[in-house]
Amino acid sequence: MRLTLHDLRRLASERKLATLTCYDASFAAVLDACDVDMLLIGDSLGMVIQGHDSTLPVTIEDIVYHTRAVVRGSRKAWIVADMPFGSYQQSPEQAFANAAILMQSGAQMVKLEGGAEMAPTISFLVQRGIPVCGHVGLTPQHVNSFGGYRVQGRGNSAEQVIAAAVAVENAGATMLVIEAVPATVAGAIASRSRALTIGIGASVNCHGQVLVLHDMLGVGVGKRPRFVRNFLTESGSIEQAVRDYVAAVRSGQFPTSDNVYADGA
Ligand code: KIV
Repeated sequence: MRLTLHDLRRLASERKLATLTCYDASFAAVLDACDVDMLLIGDSLGMVIQGHDSTLPVTIEDIVYHTRAVVRGSRKAWIVADMPFGSYQQSPEQAFANAAILMQSGAQMVKLEGGAEMAPTISFLVQRGIPVCGHVGLTPQHVNSFGGYRVQGRGNSAEQVIAAAVAVENAGATMLVIEAVPATVAGAIASRSRALTIGIGASVNCHGQVLVLHDMLGVGVGKRPRFVRNFLTESGSIEQAVRDYVAAVRSGQFPTSDNVYADGA
């Protein structure tokens, strides 16, 4: 039986939630066997699977293809599918049409990036039976506006990230990814949030953590952000690396201060 949102809320009251991105059936089976709570078919697949230098080229068809594979390979984990760039920003109706395709492909929840500007869209989806995960802080689909993959919410801009989180939650999102913001800012959001907060380069005080699978296995080239930890070098096998990640997240041993950002650092 797959986990439900109700299960995730109950689990989050007992321990932290471990999430990894996943894009195919074989890894889905491994991650499921290692008790990863949630599998995210992230648009990061544009970078780690397709070799692009951003997530922008990813299409709804790409996410559908990978979601179907992950669903076929797993039985327990909660399935979250990313809404790719251009598939939801135009209107709530456009978002619903594409989110429905993802749900029909086996997703249990869709994730979309943004703050108050996305609130009407989030409400529209939630009111029509689609659970939504928001994504605030460093939202990779905004890379060209940000001028690169930069930590968000430092100094005076902390209030902007907090306001984005509040708007997304008030619109009805039941989960919220917080990416690459100072630990103090992420912690402030998590401590007052009704939504389940999932951090990546954020704070150990979130309800759970997520990493890109390839990053935590050290697969691929290029510089990795400081929030990544390579669990494979420490463990020697993929399965053990995933088990170590799950244990470290659940017990609050990951992230450490090495994997989060200080304000102004
Ligand atoms: O696309 C993705 O993998 C993500 C995670 C980094 C949260 O959005």
